[in-house]
Amino acid sequence: MARVELKDAYKQYGKGQAPAVDGVDLTIDEGELVVLLGPSGCGKTTALRMIAGLEALTAGELWFGDRLVNGDPPDRRNVGMVFQNYALYPHMTVEQNLVFGLKAARAPKDEIRRRVAEIAGLLGLDPYLGRRPKELSGGQRQRVALGRALMRRPSVFLMDEPLSNLDANLREQMRIELARLHAQLGITTVYVTHDQNEALTLADRVVVMDGGKIRQCGTPGEVYGQPADAFVAGFIGSPGMNLWTAGWDDDGESVWLGERALRLPRSFLPVLEELGPSVTVGIRPEQLGLSHTGADVEVTCQVELLEQLGSHAQLHAEVALSEQAAGRLVARLDAALEVARGEQLVLTAPSGAVHLFEAGTGRRVDVARRSPATAFVR
Ligand SMILES: Nc1ncnc2c1ncn2[C@@H]1O[C@H](COP(=O)(O)OP(=O)(O)OP(=O)(O)O)[C@@H](O)[C@H]1O
Ligand SMILES: [Mg+2]
Repeated sequence: MARVELKDAYKQYGKGQAPAVDGVDLTIDEGELVVLLGPSGCGKTTALRMIAGLEALTAGELWFGDRLVNGDPPDRRNVGMVFQNYALYPHMTVEQNLVFGLKAARAPKDEIRRRVAEIAGLLGLDPYLGRRPKELSGGQRQRVALGRALMRRPSVFLMDEPLSNLDANLREQMRIELARLHAQLGITTVYVTHDQNEALTLADRVVVMDGGKIRQCGTPGEVYGQPADAFVAGFIGSPGMNLWTAGWDDDGESVWLGERALRLPRSFLPVLEELGPSVTVGIRPEQLGLSHTGADVEVTCQVELLEQLGSHAQLHAEVALSEQAAGRLVARLDAALEVARGEQLVLTAPSGAVHLFEAGTGRRVDVARRSPATAFVR
């Protein structure tokens, strides 16, 4: 096992090209599972390939424990990797795929046999050892790829969207298996995905990236409950947080955002005054309701569409942010709700559900402490 540390790491692929990884500082503790999460092109794979030794750092340092490994080739880093396309050898059996790396490294036969038995047992591959990859299901193939990466007892385990080729049910099943495997083996793991369900359920800590930079690094609870900025707030959650940027005014009884779209209690006044004439207000879709008792926040919206999802319904609506501009609203509501397109609806939320962000920078302001929130970057 090893602690992995990136210090002010940069990767620029070509002259004049924006850096793919842009000054990343990140420590992954021994035995920890850290998920890199972010939109396409934000630098997740590049960061992972840098740790694996498949891409050289343009600048910065990479440490495994107390060893600087910038110059070490991949085979000296003892990392196991699993990619989205499992890249199994099609002409080899499962067993041959598993042992290939160890054989190439001239490991003793007894050792190889012992490892195959152990890994096959761990991943339930015993019945398939004699089959070729094309005779396996997607989930079984993925397990072989995992097994192959584990054969050499890696001290760091790197996974790049390993489940994205699987259908939804299988993905969920494999996600649980991965969590179990990690709990059992405790290998320091960096896991890349753009699926936030995977991120929030698997991660000890989630690293939210955008444009090569870390926006926030925190536990699943932190990135969901105390997003560092509006980007993280909008990215985390399914769907993400509703965000409305508009001017506000105070009529002596309540504070209003936009064209009387959102009513807030006057207790928000001091923070709003600090933030200036225009702010970004955020409320999660699952925290909006029709009849919250004790709710002191109201959002007035125009119904566009109600999606029935079985267990609940998802409302899509517009809120009037200014005379010219409407903002979008999504709310998770009771499946029994009946509304018509164009209807005006007043949704409520408790004031604790309201997040405030600086309109310019997007930084979240802690309403309780009235100071800019700091990102949990370790
Ligand atoms: N070999 C390469 N040469 C030049 N540019 C590259 C190369 N690989 C990646 N990039 C660029 O670097 C940036 C980051 O790419 P990267 O593959 O790390 O993103 P990602 O977060 O893994 O995205 P995705 O979710 O789509 O896999 C992108 O702008 C991409 O176009
Ligand atoms: Mg990628």
